[in-house]
Parts: sequence; structure tokens; C-alpha cells
Amino acid sequence: MDLRRRTRVDRGPVARRGAGAVGVVTEWVRATPDADLAASATAAFRDAFGGLPDGVWVAPGRVNLIGEHVDYAGGLSLPIALSHRTAVAVRERRDGHLRLRSGLGSWEGAVDAVGPGAPSGWPAYLAGVVWAMRRSGLCGTDFGAHVAVASAVPIGAGLSSSAALECALAIAVADLVGAPTDDAGRTALAAACVAAENEIALAPTGGMDQAIALHARAGHAVLVDSGDGTVAPVPFDLGADGLALLVIDTRAPHRLVDGQYAQRRRSVEDAAAQLGVPTLRHATRTDLDRLGDPLTERRARHVVTEIDRVREVLQFLSSGSLREVGAVLTSSHISLRDDFEVSCPELDSAVDAALAAGAHGARMTGGGFGGSAIALVDVADVDRVAGEVLSTAETRGLVAPAFLRIDTGGAAARRVTPVS
Ligand code: GLA
Repeated sequence: MDLRRRTRVDRGPVARRGAGAVGVVTEWVRATPDADLAASATAAFRDAFGGLPDGVWVAPGRVNLIGEHVDYAGGLSLPIALSHRTAVAVRERRDGHLRLRSGLGSWEGAVDAVGPGAPSGWPAYLAGVVWAMRRSGLCGTDFGAHVAVASAVPIGAGLSSSAALECALAIAVADLVGAPTDDAGRTALAAACVAAENEIALAPTGGMDQAIALHARAGHAVLVDSGDGTVAPVPFDLGADGLALLVIDTRAPHRLVDGQYAQRRRSVEDAAAQLGVPTLRHATRTDLDRLGDPLTERRARHVVTEIDRVREVLQFLSSGSLREVGAVLTSSHISLRDDFEVSCPELDSAVDAALAAGAHGARMTGGGFGGSAIALVDVADVDRVAGEVLSTAETRGLVAPAFLRIDTGGAAARRVTPVS
């Protein structure tokens, strides 16, 4: 998605180690408190449309701890919601018309005119949600709205800024029309958001990002089972063990709407068809030998082994062996890099440098081809590891990454509307 980056950046200490680091500072992308985000969305709303919104709703970006490129194969993923969120200020109207405003500009049109590829760009993620909610009967055919957006989720960083946008609007519409927002209601909203992304924005993504944005719980990761559509909170408290997840936004351009993601998805679906199973969730490692060509076999091997890695991580989390999670993260990266081939030099550099600096494990997170990596590090080492990642990028002639300190945020919800 191509919304302008509107994130706050702190400059950290100058990275001291590594030849290329002289004068280079680490940039930390801060989360914006909900009250400030709501105030920005409300100010944008007044500026664009005049008057006050009916309310402001927020939804989080995410990092995926493990379980990558398996959601569209009926697999298991373990994402975490960020405290970096997107807010929408919304006022309902009853004429089936939408007026949208974001940092990138404005869009206006009838829900009736929304269809595959129309609108395109950022408005697709908002107009598509209303279109999909209407189709599934979650809102009436006359539903329309004024919507203004403010976002603290870095755009194009593989941290699910699109799903945050979709889910913030979905929960807003549900609240306004009285559609259920309990667990089952949220699952229905997530499905509408996936439909918007697949059918209107034409990005053939799975449902992990929307599931976490709508079902997140603070202090927890969420086990997303794309096989049966269930979600389950999993306690996740790295801090208690002196650990932290460092997020590295490589700032390499990241696009899911191009052909690579779709190609991977097709290979995975082909592999399942060749094996005669509904999805690769039903395949085992020994089945892989039956796949005809080596490329399909490698793609399928990633999926099958990645689902096993999620189970391994779940075991380590439940036994409290948090440091052991690191090695599994690194195996996931190797599989995504070598078998699934969705990494890139910037992601590999971030992972290599974090590991060399003593991270317990590191991997790319999200769709890949750019975007972000995560590293499991001792809290005391966060700044040093970030400095090493930065200086390695410099040495390799890559764009300077930015960094996020994260905690596990909550799900999409209404926020008090500031009146000013
Ligand atoms: C993107 C998609 C998700 C998922 C990940 C890879 O984030 O939106 O559905 O497929 O890539 O795990």
C-alpha cells in the first residue's frame, strides 16, 4: 500500500562499531499513543469534511513470530499485534456514498461502483471493506461514510499497514450499524477484510494479518489456525525473561500486489493438488518425495517444515524456554530464503548482522521481498544489535534500516473521540 509514511522517528545513539558506522544513527520508529492518533484522525476529519466524526476506531499492525507463507495453505501462524496502530475517524451517512481522506489524498465514490481493481491504491482497502461487509450482510446497502485516516504503522514495511486500515474501518462500521463484535463477529469482519484485499485491492493474501488485527490480546501472541479458522491467545512475555523482539524495517521496497506472492501461492496450491490433499496442512515430509519437479518440492518443503516449526515454538513457549525459540526463528529464515525464495539482500543482511551480534535468532517476517525482519535479543543488547545491523547495511551498501521496539498490543477497538 502506498500511503505516505507518517511515523514518528527517534534518533538513537550513533552506532559505534563497524567500519561503515561512522556518523550513522539508529532511527527508532515510535508508536503513537492512541489519544494522539485519535486526535490526528479527528483533526484530519474536521479539515476534510467539517464537523466531528461519530467516533474513532484503531487497529494494530503486526509482526509474525513464526508461521510464514502458510496461512493460504491451511497452516498455523503465531503473529503478535504491535502497539503501532492505524486510526480512522468515521461519520456514517445513509446514501451508499464514501468520502475518504488519508495522508495521500482524497477519494470519493459510491459503494455501488466498487469492484475488482476499482478503486485502486489505498482507497481500495477502505472502500473494499464496506463493499465486502455489504455483500455479506454485515451492513445495509445504504451504508456510506466520511472516513479520515491517521496511521502510526510504518507503510510498506511488511507490518500489515493494509490490514490495520481495513480492520479499523471494519470494526467502525460494525459498531455503527450494530453488527456483532464478539469473537465470532470479529471472525466475520476479518473475512470481509480478506475479501476486500483479495477481490478489490487484488492482493491474493491469506488471512493471518486480519486475524491478528481483530483478535489480538495485549501480552499474548495469537495462534491463527488457517485450517479450521480458529484463533487462540498464547501468553507471550519476553520481558519476564530479559528478552525483547527487535523489529528491523529494512526499508527495502515491499510490494505484495506484484506477481511474486501470487506465484508462491500458486506453487503451494499446485503442490497440494499434485499430492491429492485439500491444502499442504495435510501433507507430511515424506509426501514431498512424490512431487514431480524440484522447485515445487522446495516450495512445499518450506510450508510443511514451517508448520512444524510453529508447533516447536509453541512447545518452547509453553515450557518457558523462550531463548530456545531463537534457533527455530533462524531455521525459518533459512527455509524462506533458500526453499521459498522470498528473502532479499536487505533482509539477509539484517538477519546475518543480528545473529553475528549475538541475537538468539532472527528471521524475515511477513510476505518478504523487502519489509521487516525480527531478532530475538537480550533486552540489554537491543541498542547494540541495532547498531550492528545498521553498520552491516552500510558496509553492504544497503539503505539504512529503521528499528522498532515493540510490545504486544490489543485488537481493533473504538477509542474515545477527542472533542476540540
Ligand atoms: C502477507 C500476507 C499474509 C501472509 C504473509 C506471509 O503478510 O498478507 O496473509 O501470507 O504475507 O506469511
